[in-house]
Amino acid sequence: MHLQIFLTLSAVLVCDAKLPRLNRHTQPNELSNPTQNAQAQRLIQTEAKTVKTNRIIDQYRVRHRRDVFDSKSYESSLIWAHSERLDENGDVLLRWVNSDSSITFRLEARTRGYVGLGFNSARNMRGADLVVAWVDDRNGNAQVLDCHGPEFDDLAVADDVQNYELISGYQNDTHTTVEFRRQLDTCDKQDFAIGEDTVQVLWALGPEGSDGELPKHVKSGSRPLRLLQPVAKPQVPLSNWDVRLNNLTIPHDMATLFWCKIFKAPDLPKKHHIVGYQPIIDSRPIKNKVPVVEKDSLSPVHHMVLYECAEDPDKQLWNDWAEGDGFFGPNRPSQWATCVTPIAAWAIGSKGEYLPENVGIPVGEKSGVSYYMLEVHYDNQALHEVLDSSGIRVYYTPVLRAHDAALLGAGIGVSALHVIPPKQRQYRTVGICSPECTESTMPEEGINIVSVLLHAHGTGRKIALKHIRGTQELPVISEENSYDARYQQSRIVPGGRKFRKGDTLITECTYDSTTRDKPILGGYSASQEMCLSFVLYYPRTELAGCYSMTPVKEFFETFGVREFYGLSMLQVENIFLSSGNLENLPPQLEIDMQQRYSEETAMQGDDQGVGLMKELIIREPVEFQNKTFMAHLNEMPWSERLLTEQIEKTLYKGSHMTFCKKRDDSWGAPIQIQNYPNYTEIISNETAEKSCHYKSVRLPSVTKASATSATYNKLTAILALCVTVIVAR
Ligand SMILES: *[C@@H]1O[C@H](CO)[C@@H](O)[C@H](O)[C@H]1NC(C)=O
Ligand SMILES: *[C@@H]1O[C@H](CO)[C@@H](O)[C@H](O)[C@H]1NC(C)=O
Ligand SMILES: *[C@@H]1O[C@H](CO)[C@@H](O)[C@H](O)[C@H]1NC(C)=O
Ligand SMILES: *[C@@H]1O[C@H](CO)[C@@H](O)[C@H](O)[C@H]1NC(C)=O
Ligand SMILES: *[C@@H]1O[C@H](CO)[C@@H](O)[C@H](O)[C@H]1NC(C)=O
Repeated sequence: MHLQIFLTLSAVLVCDAKLPRLNRHTQPNELSNPTQNAQAQRLIQTEAKTVKTNRIIDQYRVRHRRDVFDSKSYESSLIWAHSERLDENGDVLLRWVNSDSSITFRLEARTRGYVGLGFNSARNMRGADLVVAWVDDRNGNAQVLDCHGPEFDDLAVADDVQNYELISGYQNDTHTTVEFRRQLDTCDKQDFAIGEDTVQVLWALGPEGSDGELPKHVKSGSRPLRLLQPVAKPQVPLSNWDVRLNNLTIPHDMATLFWCKIFKAPDLPKKHHIVGYQPIIDSRPIKNKVPVVEKDSLSPVHHMVLYECAEDPDKQLWNDWAEGDGFFGPNRPSQWATCVTPIAAWAIGSKGEYLPENVGIPVGEKSGVSYYMLEVHYDNQALHEVLDSSGIRVYYTPVLRAHDAALLGAGIGVSALHVIPPKQRQYRTVGICSPECTESTMPEEGINIVSVLLHAHGTGRKIALKHIRGTQELPVISEENSYDARYQQSRIVPGGRKFRKGDTLITECTYDSTTRDKPILGGYSASQEMCLSFVLYYPRTELAGCYSMTPVKEFFETFGVREFYGLSMLQVENIFLSSGNLENLPPQLEIDMQQRYSEETAMQGDDQGVGLMKELIIREPVEFQNKTFMAHLNEMPWSERLLTEQIEKTLYKGSHMTFCKKRDDSWGAPIQIQNYPNYTEIISNETAEKSCHYKSVRLPSVTKASATSATYNKLTAILALCVTVIVAR
């Protein structure tokens, strides 16, 4: 009866059983004209500071002082566009600002030894670009050394060419602070080219007095960051609206929990624009029945999405909901299905976002929306009991921006029909937003895409949002080639992108499942997968979500299954498509399933059809007879490349069932089964255009390194070797 827990598709983007999920919203800065953007202005300032910077370096060089000084005199006074703690305690603080061609860092670390910084696409030092800095305790001189990690060894050597340039450095009783810069792309094979993709920023701290000595690091770590992301915290004062849960107890026995609650918009006399949001994380573990505040305890909040609800005449009912505590996702009232348009979305690793300066999301319009739904996904794998009051702080302003923006979800409908086989290095899946959908929902003049949030879970490695017009592919709208689910921020589309009605959007995800032994199914839980993009655009249209999935019959055929006991393919399809009642189910099966799921399923996060996969028993072919589909899937010989490649190709280039969902939860175009679009791929000539004019900075003190030293572990080794080079000069 109530199998809605695993029934996906009918409404898009809502709490519990709906399609897409996690969207993230918005973005900083407009880049339509790069020189207008606030960041660009900072960059120009940066360049103007070069003269000053040089003077500082000179000053610094003549003063061979130590310990006692006014640290302020060593500040370069750059305006740092970004500031991030690299570790949980804030012992290593990285600030930076970039221009079109170079990037300047300031590294403040709680050490009187060396501090190491590195850049890599992996979370380790193999092949990493590394830089080590320290202030000599004897004379107060600062030094930076450009190093790298060899491909197949956990150690590192000094680069042949030194591409890092020291600006200033000093230390006090507790900290070492250095400023240095480099070109974004040094055209040096031993350096990492800093670009738009996410980079793993590595760090390590040496022990006291390790300047120029053989060091053994005392701490190290890494975190993913995008160094070239724009920032745009508006300079004007903003009002804020806190949308948060109220002392919700997260039970210790639920690994995955969705909680949904309705909020009433602030009472505004006229239209305002929402221009950004930040997360409010307030999770207190309950120990001996008492919630405790712990500095280092990890919050189970995995992501949060705020949705706008379509208008409903029954204000009283919605007011009551707004006063209440909210609902466990699958139990939420059916009227909440009209809350489909994402406004703000936060996922683990994000500090929040601001919209580009030319757009805002309207709030407080006379006839506008006044109710919103917050959805919080708790990923409580550690199974702790937690008292939680997390939520989102929404920033808004009466100073209206040029355009009313909206978010649109696209990609693969979240369901168990999205399968990623285990042991694959690069497995691709794709979701299509059909031309019929954009044709019927977009205005004559089309829309302007401002920014995109690309979303997958832990095995996602690359995500690209592609744009097809007719039979021609246009340049990619947005892409991430080094995806890390621990760090999710939306990405500005430089110059914006004009998207016409009738164009096609394709979200392509590439997964690395080499560490997994079993197939991964699509779903909301952190251990399942997704492939979504959330597109911020203007002007607003009625379109809220535009997804596709493999049609059910084709899906099972691809895995060699023709028939199940008790359910026809059509009935199975109906389960995936319907949002609740399973009138056509044979009664016995219904009872069975009901018993198996209702509780267990929700607790394991087995929704979106994952539970169904474990129930369906194969009748045809005889080869797989009497196995559940899940068992069959688990037993397939995934390491046979030909098989996996064939499955990948069939699902990618085969049929797609497309969904086009409007803001009021109605369909913008009928559900259709269509072939993968036939288009001419665009040929990227990026590499040919790359210009390498950079003149290297050679430090006189450094000679060529020989990579013959012993293998230490991790960063230590790198540092050791680097420093050895210095000492040996
Ligand atoms: C030492 O330097 C760090 C980083 O610049 C600063 O945060 C700290 O306050 C300084 N400590 C003292 C005692 O000046
Ligand atoms: C939540 O509980 C804390 C005590 O644990 C209390 O101080 C606070 O007022 C509560 N919040 C609300 C909104 O009731
Ligand atoms: C599957 O189960 C049915 C009924 O129990 C049995 O008749 C049939 O032989 C089984 N098939 C296989 C391949 O074991
Ligand atoms: C795709 O389009 C090209 C050119 O428009 C055509 O030659 C080709 O046959 C088409 N392929 C399919 C599978 O329709
Ligand atoms: C490739 O380079 C040419 C000339 O530099 C340019 O006109 C063209 O737009 C580029 N194509 C792509 C896909 O970037």
